[in-house]
Amino acid sequence: MRTNQKIVMKQLPVGKPTEDDFEIVQEDLPAIAEGQTLLRTRWLTLDPYMRSGFMADVSNIGKTVIGGTVSEVIESKADGWSVGDLVVGYYGWQTHSIGTADDIQWNNPGMPNQKWDGSMGDPSTALGILGMTGYTAYEGLLNVAKVKAGETVVVSAASGAVGQVVGQLARIKGARAVGIAGGAEKCSFCTDELGFDSCVDYKAGNLAADLAHAAPDGIDIYFENVGGDVLEAVIPLLNEGARVPICGFIAHYNDTPEERRQTPLQRLKAEGLRVLGKDGNTDGFAFFAFSALSAKHPDAEEAIKMMSDWIKSGDLRYRESITDGLESAVPAFIGMLDGQNFGKTMVRLT
Ligand SMILES: NC(=O)c1ccc[n+]([C@@H]2O[C@H](COP(=O)([O-])OP(=O)(O)OC[C@H]3O[C@@H](n4cnc5c(N)ncnc54)[C@H](OP(=O)(O)O)[C@@H]3O)[C@@H](O)[C@H]2O)c1
Repeated sequence: MRTNQKIVMKQLPVGKPTEDDFEIVQEDLPAIAEGQTLLRTRWLTLDPYMRSGFMADVSNIGKTVIGGTVSEVIESKADGWSVGDLVVGYYGWQTHSIGTADDIQWNNPGMPNQKWDGSMGDPSTALGILGMTGYTAYEGLLNVAKVKAGETVVVSAASGAVGQVVGQLARIKGARAVGIAGGAEKCSFCTDELGFDSCVDYKAGNLAADLAHAAPDGIDIYFENVGGDVLEAVIPLLNEGARVPICGFIAHYNDTPEERRQTPLQRLKAEGLRVLGKDGNTDGFAFFAFSALSAKHPDAEEAIKMMSDWIKSGDLRYRESITDGLESAVPAFIGMLDGQNFGKTMVRLT
């Protein structure tokens, strides 16, 4: 009999999540049946959408927190899977799980579980730069915003999982990359290690002026990860024909529904559409979601392969923020929402 440890949401977080909102629960796992695998989790990814989706839905109380995983097959009664194989799946915050042939990586039948043989990169990258966050950056910048050489691209949460990739892809495509990040260290990382042309520390207190200085020709693409004050500072600098792929609004994920209704975000979005649109055309702003993109763009594999090659050639770099042990998931997740992560947030289980 195997014992599984899993993190269950006890109650909906109100505002910032706290450790009291979760508990670790232990359970015995049944023996696997024909067609199944027993999986031991090696890596968990922690992502902001877990706060805005799963942790905002009352029907998830008592359930294991969702999320992407890389697991090792430790027993197999399934064709095609052998002990020792690594599975990129979606088994959530737990140490073990039972896999079946129908399991999918996301709520997306187009994305079945995947075997990770390590030829493209380390296993953790399957959940980051060569997985959901890297692909989001790639698709958002290249296929949604359609970046062109010579344009100015601004990206918020620039040192984070998505942001660090967006800025580097902008450079690879011949655009000027300007990051917005919290603190001097994160900004130096973006410019000195990732090759962004410039990075603005939004916590330094002069965001509007610093951003205008960093983007003297205005902004052609604003890759939106944040919302709030950062979006307000960006709006006046957007050029005619600018594109704003809206990836996320992390500044508002801890808002209560009432706070969300009162935020200037709603007003800014509406004004932005009017300011940007020509003849009522609202193409400038585009909400997009990884799950929709991955269904719409069967070239995902090609994109990931290209990014893997860029990593190998040194053209694309990444940083991960790793903690160890299932019990580190909740504090690391809370810290990520507060900017304590530096790069893609991951939990390593042994
Ligand atoms: N559309 C999609 O399918 C999709 C897919 C993946 C991610 N996303 C979204 O993309 C965004 C970034 O996700 P990620 O995984 O790359 O996370 P991340 O950037 O690695 O981590 C979150 C970062 O957000 C920043 N942040 C938190 N609160 C902030 C605030 N009030 N103002 C400004 N910055 C704040 C912090 O960086 P600083 O220290 O710099 O403040 C923090 O490190 C999120 O909004 C997420 O929901 C969307």
